[in-house]
Amino acid sequence: MADNQSHTHELIGSAPRGTRDLYGATLLLRHRLLNLFWNQAEQFGLIPIQTPSFEQKVLFLKGVGEETDIVQKEMYDLTSHGEELDLALRPEGTAGVVRAYIEHGMASWPQPVRLAYAGTMFRHERPQRGRYRELSQVGVEILGSSNPSSEATVMFFMWLFAKRAGILEPMIKLGSTGDAECRPKYEKKLQHYFREFAGELCSDCTRRLENRPMRILDCKNPRCQKIAEKAPSVLDNLCKNCEQHFKEVIEAADLLAVPYEIDARLARGLDYYTRTVFELFHSSAKEALALGGGGRYDGLVELYGGQKTPAIGMAIGIDRLEEALQSGGAATETKQRIDVFLVIVGELAKQKALQLYTILIQEDLSVVMAPDKESLRSQLKAADQAGASQAVIIGQQEANGGQAIVRDMETGKQETMDLLAVPEYLHARLGHISAE
Ligand code: HAM
Repeated sequence: MADNQSHTHELIGSAPRGTRDLYGATLLLRHRLLNLFWNQAEQFGLIPIQTPSFEQKVLFLKGVGEETDIVQKEMYDLTSHGEELDLALRPEGTAGVVRAYIEHGMASWPQPVRLAYAGTMFRHERPQRGRYRELSQVGVEILGSSNPSSEATVMFFMWLFAKRAGILEPMIKLGSTGDAECRPKYEKKLQHYFREFAGELCSDCTRRLENRPMRILDCKNPRCQKIAEKAPSVLDNLCKNCEQHFKEVIEAADLLAVPYEIDARLARGLDYYTRTVFELFHSSAKEALALGGGGRYDGLVELYGGQKTPAIGMAIGIDRLEEALQSGGAATETKQRIDVFLVIVGELAKQKALQLYTILIQEDLSVVMAPDKESLRSQLKAADQAGASQAVIIGQQEANGGQAIVRDMETGKQETMDLLAVPEYLHARLGHISAE
């Protein structure tokens, strides 16, 4: 009863469905991945860009496509004070980056313009492992290049990032969706094929049959998959130019030694793609969710009112990358570094310790204290729990004599020294440990 009485406020509930709080090791891993991404982006000469988390809805309707699941089922439309706004939370990053390219006159910059971004996207999906309603992506967009080596470079970036992150055998599935010349003809062929099975397709695919027959190839329903197995392949139906382009993408990917598998059934869930499409996987394991995806989108800049500009890009899902790393047991060094724990007993010791604290922090060491704990024992225990490398112990006696004890938390070895000598001693000791 006593316990209940102390709860004068009601619990407010949990994080919204499909969202997560990230903290500790998982967030440290995310920081490490983002650092890795930005370092690699610099290495590839990419310019960082950040666009808003919400945009005009029409951007996604036109670009990603009104008929796609992402827009039709998963987009968060915004309303304010009961009034519908023409805005939506971004389900992906490419549309905003292309809008910014046009808005800031980047077409007059030296081409191609190579951009990199990281941010959260929002999709109202059915939450499950690897599928969140707030998700984090890192992405690359290269605008103003029609050269197949740009595809290969973007795929190389994607593969290398996954490899450096710690994915053991990252692999790319590569396909083509054709262009305005060959795709409509291929779609007609597909419709013709699937109409024979019209009664057997799932309700989503029955709808897709009229507008997006290529999406049937990607349906997860086993019955639709079975029917799709014998459907005509897009790769056998490319026009001459698309076929040549695909061949050159493959040659460039070979030269860059990017591991890929050709997948004639690769159907991406966004409408803006032309020609090359690809997805990144953990390994050749069939069932896994894609870690990333991308492709060429030669019509999007024009669709948004800019000049005709060939472009190519990709995005990697950071949540999925983290889960692949955590479940695969791959090297994920996410332990927090604590160099020094200050153990303080007595009032005079506290003064001395605070003076030492400000010096050590400004000399770039990581330093922690437990000012709410009084006994030597409880503070040493806290130092151990924090995983500190060294403890600096200042008791009444040491404080009076202007001294401190430095204890190596791993070996238990202790040395008493002048307080003034402590910073230099710690630098030498920690330098020695990190070199081991
Ligand atoms: P996307 O394939 O829709 O492509 O998403 C890229 C990646 O984001 C996916 O491979 C996946 O790892 C991650 N992702 C997507 N949805 C979720 C979710 N609900 N929960 C967790 N992770 C998710 C795009 O977004 C394109 N903008 C990529 C691109 C850039 N194409 C050209 N340029």
